[in-house]
Amino acid sequence: MTDKLIPLRIAGVGYSLPETVVTNDDLTKLYETSDEWIYSRTGIKERRLVSGNENAIDLGEIAAKNALKKAGMKADDLDMIIAASTAPIELYSMGCQIQKRLDMTKQVPAFDVSAACTGLIYCLSIAKGFVASGMYKNILIVATDNNSKLLDWTDRGTSILFGDGAGAMVVTASDDGVDDIITIDIKSDGKYDHLISLPFDGKNCPLVEPNEVHPSLIKMNGKGVYAFVAKILPKYVEELLQKTGLTSDDIDYLIPHQANIRIIQAVQERLGMPEEKVVTNIKYYGNTSAASIPIALAEGVEKGSVKLGSTALLCGFGAGMTWGGAIIRLREGIC
Ligand code: COA
Repeated sequence: MTDKLIPLRIAGVGYSLPETVVTNDDLTKLYETSDEWIYSRTGIKERRLVSGNENAIDLGEIAAKNALKKAGMKADDLDMIIAASTAPIELYSMGCQIQKRLDMTKQVPAFDVSAACTGLIYCLSIAKGFVASGMYKNILIVATDNNSKLLDWTDRGTSILFGDGAGAMVVTASDDGVDDIITIDIKSDGKYDHLISLPFDGKNCPLVEPNEVHPSLIKMNGKGVYAFVAKILPKYVEELLQKTGLTSDDIDYLIPHQANIRIIQAVQERLGMPEEKVVTNIKYYGNTSAASIPIALAEGVEKGSVKLGSTALLCGFGAGMTWGGAIIRLREGIC
């Protein structure tokens, strides 16, 4: 431990998507809907879904390895793994599952953060604290989701929105005194827990009472989520910028959680940002929950729509309700 706060460097980012594509037209085989209905309300045309035995651990492993490679690190260089998953395939720590896949010989701490689609920003905030204090140096964040296994595929108001994917970030102590996290903030309000939920209520002991197994599927009040987020998020992001003493002119890219194009546009309009500064891939991947921000970031850099040596504003929201934002530096070499 040290008295001086240690600045953080984002060393590498990576992502992974399943190959199976399900279009809006494909969904018409499941229920009464249309490409026009879905696209006009959400901005989504298609999504990637896991198939066969593929799951969030497989996706997370690839994203993690990509991020480690970009960071120029081996798995054994890591001091900690933090996983965020809205749809974990293993409730007893996705972080440990990723650790196992990385074949680490060191027994570093690995754990999960449950903050739904705001997971990446929560993890980054936690990692910043550990790096700043000097407790841990090299931290892998893996945000990975296979929502498709936990959706009710008869619920057309919810299942149209989500996709599967993983994003990862490796952070470390900055050796040049510059912190890549210019600001970071996380929020939640449990009063709105009813808007999105994934109950794991299990069942009581049969000696206590007869019972049935309840399916554990994602439940969402879409209209309620929309109204809540449209009210809080644009104002919140604007205030985050103001508190940092910055304006939207100082930000090169807005990289928002990819939940609904209309919510993204509401944030963009509030900040008065031109469209070319807004990174979106919702059209092709839908809402990949915690993974959506790191996928948008890593894919944007890989495809050249996000140039490095820049500044990005990340913002997200999710079940809980949780929300958060960060303004970060994107240095050369992270992807
Ligand atoms: N295709 C066609 N019709 C559909 C439909 C679908 N996929 N889903 C719902 N409908 C119908 C409803 O049954 C309803 O019909 P009714 O008026 O006859 O009852 C009508 O369309 C309107 O439904 P509603 O739920 O009010 O639609 P909406 O305009 O609110 O759009 C969402 C639904 C889900 C697209 C929208 O609310 C949304 O994007 N919310 C935000 C959700 C979100 O971001 N969640 C992620 C959080 S991380």
